[in-house]
Amino acid sequence: GVGIAITGSGSATPEQVLSNDDLAMMVDTSDEWIKARTGISRRHLAPSSGSLSQLSAEAGLKALAMAELAPNDLDLILLATSSPDDLFGSACQVQRLLGASRAVAFDLTAACSGFVFGLVTAAQYIRTGTYRNVLVIGADILSRWVDWNDRGTCILFGDGAGAVVCQASETGDRLLGFEMCSDGTQNSSLNLAYQGQEKFINTKSEITQGNYQFITMNGREVYRFAVAKVPEVIEKALYRANLSAADLDWLLLHQANQRIIDAVADRLKIKSEKVISNVCEYGNTSAASIPIALDEAIRIGKVKDGDIIATSGFGAGLSWGSAIIQW
Ligand code: ACO
Repeated sequence: GVGIAITGSGSATPEQVLSNDDLAMMVDTSDEWIKARTGISRRHLAPSSGSLSQLSAEAGLKALAMAELAPNDLDLILLATSSPDDLFGSACQVQRLLGASRAVAFDLTAACSGFVFGLVTAAQYIRTGTYRNVLVIGADILSRWVDWNDRGTCILFGDGAGAVVCQASETGDRLLGFEMCSDGTQNSSLNLAYQGQEKFINTKSEITQGNYQFITMNGREVYRFAVAKVPEVIEKALYRANLSAADLDWLLLHQANQRIIDAVADRLKIKSEKVISNVCEYGNTSAASIPIALDEAIRIGKVKDGDIIATSGFGAGLSWGSAIIQW
């Protein structure tokens, strides 16, 4: 049958940087507190509207260049994001910016699990023989939705985009195993909810209009959820791949914070040398965090051809998942 090969990666982050010291002048916090609790030193912030599509296209172009594909070779563009420039979706704008006129494009929303869910979705289209060349992008600009007066959340998030090219392969399949999960009963521990006010538009018809509110989070609940569920879902994906944690070259988790990453690595008995992390530089970029970290690790030569990587995304929904991939 047809398998998938991951043939290119790319990433793009905004130039503007907000340091912990900058934050300490806005809310009651400190560089020491943020570093000790999260491992984050800086985050990059996107200033302009329309920038989600632009960052996504920039990351996509770099991934296409590495894969030696032209935009016109693409059959499908999957944009995993929870913060589109347009509520109707931003994938079509990415298609336009890339000039990928043959490709169908749509958004996929699964918060911080979005990239892993997108990668698995791409693989299904490829394995069924429907499409051959798919661009999977994870991108978020959560700075748009952060309450910059809430020190419990504003220290965590940053903006960016990352992408990979997945291609049909007749000589193997580099998505070795995956597992995806959802639990809507725990939705209230992390959300960015719509809130409206009822109003009558005539004497008998009532509708609701409003806007999205800021991100709200119960940090401890999310922390507990991640540390319990992420090792479990990785174990399940490894089992499907007929592998164990000892076979992994790299552990690449959603970059939410260093303490979660360390705790998961510890539970899986994976040494710190095998853990990929750049949360220090970018904070939590939601759906973008895994492909940005993957791209950096590939470009500095850390991740080499044939390396096996356990990825795991987890976050709002709640949703979580793992994809075991081979570069
Ligand atoms: N600076 C200084 N003090 C702070 C700050 C801050 N930025 N934020 C909270 N505090 C205070 C609290 O007010 C509290 O004070 P109190 O004891 O007087 O009430 C104290 O620090 C401890 O607060 P906790 O919230 O219990 O701190 P905790 O150790 O849990 O750390 C954190 C908070 C970093 C948010 C942690 O819970 C965490 O990392 N959770 C996971 C969150 C996460 O990663 N979410 C995103 C994943 S999903 C996704 O990506 C969408």
